[in-house]
Amino acid sequence: MYWKSLLVLALAVPGRAIVRFHCSQLVRERLDPLVEPGANPSAHVHQIVGGNSFNATMEPGKDMPGESTCTTCTFADDFSNYWTAVMYFRAKNGTYKRVPNIGNNQFEKANGGLTIYYMQDAIYDENQKSNVTAFKPGFRMFIGDVHARTLAEASRYRYLTYTCLDTWTQRSPETIAFPQRKCKEGIMTTLRFPTCWDGKNLDSPDHMSHMSYPETGTFESGGPCPATHPVRTAQVMFEVLWDTKQFNDLEWPEDGRNPFVWSFGDATGYANHADYVFGWKDNSLQKVLDSPCYFYTNCSEYGHKLQSVEDMNKCAQKPVLEEDIDGWLDALPGGYQSQYGPTSG
Ligand SMILES: *[C@@H]1O[C@H](CO)[C@@H](O)[C@H](O)[C@H]1NC(C)=O
Ligand SMILES: *[C@@H]1O[C@H](CO)[C@@H](O)[C@H](O)[C@H]1NC(C)=O
Ligand SMILES: *[C@@H]1O[C@H](CO)[C@@H](O)[C@H](O)[C@H]1NC(C)=O
Ligand SMILES: *[C@@H]1O[C@H](CO)[C@@H](O)[C@H](O)[C@H]1NC(C)=O
Repeated sequence: MYWKSLLVLALAVPGRAIVRFHCSQLVRERLDPLVEPGANPSAHVHQIVGGNSFNATMEPGKDMPGESTCTTCTFADDFSNYWTAVMYFRAKNGTYKRVPNIGNNQFEKANGGLTIYYMQDAIYDENQKSNVTAFKPGFRMFIGDVHARTLAEASRYRYLTYTCLDTWTQRSPETIAFPQRKCKEGIMTTLRFPTCWDGKNLDSPDHMSHMSYPETGTFESGGPCPATHPVRTAQVMFEVLWDTKQFNDLEWPEDGRNPFVWSFGDATGYANHADYVFGWKDNSLQKVLDSPCYFYTNCSEYGHKLQSVEDMNKCAQKPVLEEDIDGWLDALPGGYQSQYGPTSG
């Protein structure tokens, strides 16, 4: 639905930026400096994008722009790291194969990765005009629950969704569980972070409680932030394209269950989650947000440094741990098997 509105937005005159850009794959591996700092390997496989200072340990004091020599993102000053779990297909014989994540509409040549938005008002708002505060060095956040296996558990998190793509640019309807049918063009996951910050803490023990959803309404409806979390930030949103097309011709389970599973075993889809470690250089994010540039296309006209998809792709990192995450596997890396929740299947 909102995709159609985006085309309208292109004709409008925003007072403030809405940026949409891509970050190619940095690496896919079992590291998680946010939830399992120092663990090598961490429990499950992630796909990570952004600055190449990404590592098993990333203290809040780490100088990500200073320690990176490149980034896989369109904005050359964005050395943040963004990551999600990895999707697998479970064949009828019980073995698993990784589902490739691929470039997005307008970024077809990107090597995997994900598309990132920073928005100041609802995505369908044709005139972005609110002022939002950029994140600070050391800031990080997480959204979702890796243990969620029911709709009730997933409902604590708004807007972590799936779109079953019949066409490449389709953007609705969105579901909270994995699609239960074959999707002609693949599956898109859309992950939206909360937008109200407590203004003090760069992180919190669960990596979530320093952030909040609006007190009433939603970010989209302009809902106010609660007094405990008064600072309104940009809404960070990921779009990840999963190339499930190639699995549509294979045999699916006879019981009709969804054959896709997250790298930590969730086959319901309710445990969709995302990680963000802020790493924009100096105050470059605030400058982007305060300029009326649109998506990424005309942002260089406001002095923001952009790089080509070819240069983004070149920044790829080698996995720290060498293990097979791509073959037909008897178990998911880390030893997980598909788990269906009590309400699915
Ligand atoms: C960039 O695009 C936006 C949206 O179309 C427009 O409002 C703005 O004036 C453009 N800026 C330049 C410098 O072309
Ligand atoms: C990651 O950490 C290891 C161990 O501390 C170190 O040898 C390596 O150089 C680091 N890699 C990067 C890209 O910082
Ligand atoms: C399991 O099924 C997949 C998909 O059909 C196939 O490629 C793979 O070779 C099979 N593995 C075994 C051990 O039969
Ligand atoms: C946003 O901040 C600018 C100054 O930087 C101010 O002129 C404008 O009125 C503010 N907009 C809103 C909606 O508060």
